[in-house]
Amino acid sequence: MNLQTITVIAYIWLAIAIVVHITMFFVTAPFGRHTTENWGISINNKTAWIVMEMPSLLIMLCFLFRGHNSFNSYVWILFVLWIIHYFNRTLIYPFRIKATPKKMPLVIACSGAWFNLVNAGLNGYYLSELAPSDKYNASWLTSLPFIVGILLFFCGLIINWKADTILINLRKPGETGYKIPQGFLFKYVSSPNLFGEIMEWSGFALMAFNLPALTFMVWTFANLVPRAKNHHDWYLKHFPDYPKERKIVFPFLF
Ligand SMILES: NC(=O)c1ccc[n+]([C@@H]2O[C@H](COP(=O)([O-])OP(=O)(O)OC[C@H]3O[C@@H](n4cnc5c(N)ncnc54)[C@H](OP(=O)(O)O)[C@@H]3O)[C@@H](O)[C@H]2O)c1
Repeated sequence: MNLQTITVIAYIWLAIAIVVHITMFFVTAPFGRHTTENWGISINNKTAWIVMEMPSLLIMLCFLFRGHNSFNSYVWILFVLWIIHYFNRTLIYPFRIKATPKKMPLVIACSGAWFNLVNAGLNGYYLSELAPSDKYNASWLTSLPFIVGILLFFCGLIINWKADTILINLRKPGETGYKIPQGFLFKYVSSPNLFGEIMEWSGFALMAFNLPALTFMVWTFANLVPRAKNHHDWYLKHFPDYPKERKIVFPFLF
């Protein structure tokens, strides 16, 4: 595939993200606290997370080691950041979440896997086959987008991991219910883990400064802002004493 084909695919992918974003304000993604049995066959929650996220990890590893240009330029840095995130999401996070009777509809696990297939395919192919090595070189490491982007990426990663950890630890062994999370960025927003993830991929897009990375940033926003709103509304509905000043996902803003 040449650059023109990848560009067309990326624009179509962006258009789909916008449709998904709007749809998600009307249809709640049925996993976690929002799960339901109305979406057909369901599978174990932990298995579902592995099925959903594994394509992203494997595809990026393949492109890193088998792609044409991966080690000919500094793009390997972007691969490594991606792999750090997805190693956690695929092989650590599912084993840390507390077991509950809740399941995930197979259709959601499959659509998550499909998203990751296209997203990692697009980004991995671009980086390993098409990314210009005169863009990703030593001087890129001292450019403003790289420096600001990598700072944002790691701040987002830490926020995401820390907030996920607080949420996971809310349940004592054997508990399956929900509590109001306190402390850290929960003082400001209902979903700091989702805020951290949006920050991470915004930083990545800034560093990478290419169209496929921009599509991932837009997709993350498109997916996670409505999900954070669903979480926030759920808390307000289930906890009469839920802090009223807490925003949805962006501190002080939304
Ligand atoms: N890049 C993307 O497009 C994308 C999309 C979706 C998710 N993600 C990432 O995947 C991770 C999980 O997302 P999520 O929306 O499923 O997160 P979440 O609803 O905040 O749940 C995270 C974990 O904490 C538990 N939990 C949450 N709130 C709780 C509470 N108040 N009391 C007790 N336990 C609680 C959940 O249990 P239950 O499962 O039983 O509710 C789950 O095990 C996040 O880090 C997110 O950034 C990324």
